[in-house]
Amino acid sequence: MTFNPLREKGIPLEAQLRTWRELNVEPYDRNDVHPYSRTRGILLNGIEVEAVMFSHQMARNTLDSQVKRQLALLRRVEAQQQKAINWLIPGDETTIEVTLGYEQVAVDLTAWLAQHEADPYLKQVYDFALLEDFDHLYRYANLYELIEGKKADEICGDLTEITPGRPTIFEHRHPGDEIRRPMTAPAADAQSVLNALTIVAAEQQTMNFYMTIGNRYQEPIARATYAEIGLIEEQHVSHYESILDPAASWFENLVLHQWHECWMYWSAVQDETDQRVRKLYEQHLGMEIEHLRVACELMKLVERRDPEEILPVSAFSEPLKFQPNKAYVRSVLASQINLTAKDSDFVPVSTLANDDRYFRYQRRVNGDFSPTEEVIRLNKEKNGRDYRLETEGPNPVEGLRSDEERNGAETQYAQRQQAAA
Ligand SMILES: [Fe+2]
Ligand SMILES: [Fe+2]
Ligand SMILES: [Fe+2]
Ligand SMILES: [Fe+2]
Repeated sequence: MTFNPLREKGIPLEAQLRTWRELNVEPYDRNDVHPYSRTRGILLNGIEVEAVMFSHQMARNTLDSQVKRQLALLRRVEAQQQKAINWLIPGDETTIEVTLGYEQVAVDLTAWLAQHEADPYLKQVYDFALLEDFDHLYRYANLYELIEGKKADEICGDLTEITPGRPTIFEHRHPGDEIRRPMTAPAADAQSVLNALTIVAAEQQTMNFYMTIGNRYQEPIARATYAEIGLIEEQHVSHYESILDPAASWFENLVLHQWHECWMYWSAVQDETDQRVRKLYEQHLGMEIEHLRVACELMKLVERRDPEEILPVSAFSEPLKFQPNKAYVRSVLASQINLTAKDSDFVPVSTLANDDRYFRYQRRVNGDFSPTEEVIRLNKEKNGRDYRLETEGPNPVEGLRSDEERNGAETQYAQRQQAAA
């Protein structure tokens, strides 16, 4: 099944504004929301935040007041869409619970993108940061158990494993090593463009979220953990935004954004199991089809270019899906745990010279306190073990296995040695 948003009829722009009553949607029930229904909402909220912020930036770089007015109208609708989606989150879901949802998005979204990325360099870009967000999920799951006394599988289900990835303490790199090589949109595969627009919006909203809510806890360890991981999300935004085509014009970008939003809602509509939420996504899809038409008209008018020439493809054939990626994440973990970034490449840490800026940056920020290590230590102290959800066996990296498993392996090894002697 394919979908061509340029050939569909949307909702007229004038008919898109909604009342406060319509925007103040009934939140989902935290006890029976499907974990992937939660992640879809978090992702779509991030897409709408990007739509709003991109439009503001474009407006600030636009002289023509007629164009500014048209942007303002589109943007007001995007801002309403953002409310309708983000207000699905109920007030009795705690900040750490929402956070667990954000990191589950990061894991299963990035893993899907990596497996649908034809360009080997871009695939490496996804695999690399996948292991980092995967580790964040483990750190927050332990913070959750430490502070709220609950287990993260109540939120994430057993769809996503929870175990260490690239330890957050090692993720801190010099900003100069976070800049990737850009794609050129006209030459790139359509899926590569959709993938990049998706991940940039998702990581950016994660960054926004942590920078805003990280100070809502009184416990010093919670505040410190949000500050530390929040800075990694800043790195991730730098990492991912640098793969976007920097040569695209403002109007080209506007068209791409609306085209991408169509793909997002077309995908969400197909998978959403909550009928009420699915209706909301259908409504938004109708709005985005019209946004795309309006953006194309603006581009023709101002740049005198045909938008269909700049769109990598007009019809979508594959929807984005939230689904378990356990085997995939494990294979990346097993093969790439030792990587770090050097300029725009990914290299084993062991190849860096002792005086590399990576080590200098590490020493500077980690100092004598690592919140994300401390949170594990504290939770072990409280519960006698760290929190993990390893449904497919022990962590594939030996050094990341639990104390119990490592002690077990050492005992076995000692027994074998004894037997051999
Ligand atoms: Fe939108
Ligand atoms: Fe993360
Ligand atoms: Fe991230
Ligand atoms: Fe839009």
